Amino acid sequence: LIYFDQAATSWPKPDAVVEAVTAALRASSASPGRSTHAMSVTAARTVFRAREAMAELLGVDDSGRIAFTLNVTQALNTVLYGLLKPGDHVLTTSMEHNSVMRPLARLAEIRGVEVSVVEADRQGGIDPDDFRTLIRPTTRLAVVNHGSNVTGTLAPLAEIKAALEGLPLVVDAAQTAGVLPLTPVTEIADVLAFTGHKGLMGPTGTGGLWVRPGIAVGSLIQGGTGSRSEHEIQPDFMPDCLEAGTPNTHGLAGLAAAVDYILEIGLEHIRDHETALTKAFLDGLGNMEGVRVYGPKNIKEITAVVSINIDGYSPSDLAFVLDREYGVAVRAGLHCAPRAHKTIGSFPQGTVRFSFGWFNTLDEVRRVLAALDEISKKGLGS
Ligand SMILES: Cc1ncc(COP(=O)(O)O)c(C=O)c1O
Repeated sequence: LIYFDQAATSWPKPDAVVEAVTAALRASSASPGRSTHAMSVTAARTVFRAREAMAELLGVDDSGRIAFTLNVTQALNTVLYGLLKPGDHVLTTSMEHNSVMRPLARLAEIRGVEVSVVEADRQGGIDPDDFRTLIRPTTRLAVVNHGSNVTGTLAPLAEIKAALEGLPLVVDAAQTAGVLPLTPVTEIADVLAFTGHKGLMGPTGTGGLWVRPGIAVGSLIQGGTGSRSEHEIQPDFMPDCLEAGTPNTHGLAGLAAAVDYILEIGLEHIRDHETALTKAFLDGLGNMEGVRVYGPKNIKEITAVVSINIDGYSPSDLAFVLDREYGVAVRAGLHCAPRAHKTIGSFPQGTVRFSFGWFNTLDEVRRVLAALDEISKKGLGS
């Protein structure tokens, strides 16, 4: 199997992650911070370790500003429901995932939130000045995808923040956490949402959000936190206000190990490796007839994500042939981002997406290029 579906979820996971989850399952099944017995204390330490590791990766001082969720979808829903009030106006882009578009559509329905969408160009590129022109007196925040899961296009976050004239910027870092150094982003963003199972190389069921001090995000879910139990209202301090219910402690043990692993390798090193794979892939595609490549070709402007179509094949047929005949796992269709496909001109059929990770090799890229060459020639002949 050649696994080029890293943007959906990364595979394989580092051995240290597998071992950390197993060890946590063996050591403790208690709820963290709820009881005083040793197992509960161990579980609380596990969660604290994960928070500290994430703080180091994000380059933020106070790990208490990081709340864990089950994925970035829950993190984004938390921040959008927690900040947007009836009548508020919000800015976003046409490159967003449905984990932004759908909560915004629902908030428009139930709270009358008004949404303005900055249209990206055909490469998925955003003009920051478009944000400035759309600001209204009721604009509450902007929410922007850092790296497109369709074309890999990176958003110019610093310029967007400058155009927002002080309004909060919420960043969906689903495709960039663990992939790019995020320290500059936490200097710019006001809220950063991440998922643990993609570039962070952790288990599914992990994710969260970092919230800049001074910003109060209301809770989406209320319940037990192990703190202030005498009150029937949710605590208002981070991270407890956003962490009701028993967390995925075993998954967080894995996330902590994954982040340690990434920090040991170094994000620059990971980025260099993934960039080399992406460049080799783009260079190889450049010589192939009947292949259409979407998004920027300059690897500095993208993550390790490339979307294509091949003449004579629908995206699902191409993905099927790659899987059944060549043992290559990719993702076909709309990638939960229909508006992004409208933007780049691939709606409604979508594209076939190839996404590379730390464990992929140049040899795998070459083998897949050879397969695509063969497939494209057959397609042209049909
Ligand atoms: C840009 C972007 N946002 C959000 C998500 C949702 O991620 P999750 O399913 O982990 O919540 C994804 C993953 O598909 C994504 O690529």
